[in-house]
Amino acid sequence: MIAAVIMNIITTSMTAAVIKGRKTMEYLTVALAKGRLAELAMELFITAGFDCSEMKEKSRKLIFTDEAHKMKFILVKASDVPTYVEYGAADIGIVGKDTLLEEHKNLYEMINLGFGACRMAVCGPPEMKERFSSINNLKVASKYPRIAQQFFRDEKGQTIEIIKLNGSVELAPLVGLSDVIVDIVESGKTLEENGLAVLEEICPLSAWFVVNKVSMKIQTERIMQIVERFKAEIQKRELA
Ligand code: PRP
Repeated sequence: MIAAVIMNIITTSMTAAVIKGRKTMEYLTVALAKGRLAELAMELFITAGFDCSEMKEKSRKLIFTDEAHKMKFILVKASDVPTYVEYGAADIGIVGKDTLLEEHKNLYEMINLGFGACRMAVCGPPEMKERFSSINNLKVASKYPRIAQQFFRDEKGQTIEIIKLNGSVELAPLVGLSDVIVDIVESGKTLEENGLAVLEEICPLSAWFVVNKVSMKIQTERIMQIVERFKAEIQKRELA
């Protein structure tokens, strides 16, 4: 308990220190999950009036600046976005709900941006559909051990053995490493081409706009301005 309180104080003061240092430069930093989500996020920032031209150039740069709006965009690995935002190294993050559920960090989830839509599901050989719920110590391979564990424990009351993998998870039931997998399904092509199927859906997923808790207090006006612009753009897209 005392250790947790001390950790909290250290984390808060580290966050404040990082933000204090940056505040003198008056930049707002946005962490984007590298890849397709970063491209879709960039489009949204452009429609909201920001200059992302530097990011459009092919390069290995990881930091991009919109001087006119005093904005910095940093490209980070998806699973690291919540960490950058929690510690205040980034004020804002654009990241998938899957990463937020798995990383479980202390930040504000402000808006569901709607893009990058897919679902988290239990998948496996089609013949497992009727059986997997009654197997004791079901072997589950996943890049998302927390989500998998929580789903089977809290929703299904089933004990499982988690096998943590870092990619190509669909291979696991095919080579006898696991009975089923918990993974993202987007088009369903990877499952289909490997003779697997969705056995049960866990939850829908999409990209979220997240904010550091201290930044939200210090930079409320600027952050809320972006939130409102994004909300208007999302609404426009929904009506189109
Ligand atoms: C993701 C996910 C699935 C696949 C689903 O993997 O883990 O394997 O995409 O997409 P689909 O339903 O459109 O086929 P990713 O491409 O990130 O590669 P990885 O397995 O190496 O992590």
